[in-house]
Amino acid sequence: MPDLLELAGISASYGRIQALSNVSLQVPEGSIVALLGSNGAGKTTTLNTISRLVPVTSGNIWFDGKAIENRASHQVVEGGIVQVPEGREVFRDMSVRENLEMGAYRRKDTAAVRNDFERVLDYFPKIRERLHQRAGTLSGGEQQMLLIGRALMARPRLLLLDEPSLGLSPVLVQQIFGIIDRLNKDGLTILLVEQNAAVALTCSRYAYILENGEMALQGPSEQLRRDDSVRRTYLGH
Ligand SMILES: Nc1ncnc2c1ncn2[C@@H]1O[C@H](COP(=O)(O)OP(=O)(O)OP(=O)(O)O)[C@@H](O)[C@H]1O
Ligand SMILES: [Mg+2]
Repeated sequence: MPDLLELAGISASYGRIQALSNVSLQVPEGSIVALLGSNGAGKTTTLNTISRLVPVTSGNIWFDGKAIENRASHQVVEGGIVQVPEGREVFRDMSVRENLEMGAYRRKDTAAVRNDFERVLDYFPKIRERLHQRAGTLSGGEQQMLLIGRALMARPRLLLLDEPSLGLSPVLVQQIFGIIDRLNKDGLTILLVEQNAAVALTCSRYAYILENGEMALQGPSEQLRRDDSVRRTYLGH
């Protein structure tokens, strides 16, 4: 499959602190690609450069064959790249339904939005039961599902997921990853940032490992799962 997203030699800095240097990666259309690394490695920064929330100092970002490194963030979203940010940021005082509708606020195709609303609720039956509940009262796992649902309401072609397993129990992690897998089988391309390497290497096809803002290692996920240094450093054995 052709690459839907390609980063070529991306560098980015916060003031004098260089957060990324010469980062390259590819996300083929229809795949799940994992981006791993420990705290502060630059994973979120990488997603933020793609979403155009952090400027790049050098390098290129290609999406669907077009250079996007100079686009504004809203143009990137309209082009089909939607990020689910790290941590839970639902609109706490709005209802669950209103939160989902916010995901589609730029769309004018009302009939398709209604269809997508139903489709999203099919992925998340727990959310369907809580449409009128205040979003701030959802459990942590339900909030994570709502965030993914809200992102889906924007009709992404590429979903950027930043640590969807953060703070969730093993059972909920399984549930979320079951849904991620289903979304991918239904055709969605996903770039998945995770610290939980075990689960990320199981659901992805290919993975990259960042260390101190540089790409340290990459390969097919199955191969990385069996790699001794990866096991020691990221899988805890
Ligand atoms: N807004 C910011 N201003 C200054 N430095 C920042 C900012 N955001 C991130 N950094 C720095 O950039 C580096 C990379 O941070 P980043 O958030 O991308 O890491 P991460 O891999 O997502 O880590 P984590 O797993 O903890 O979320 C860190 O050293 C961090 O302190
Ligand atoms: Mg992060």
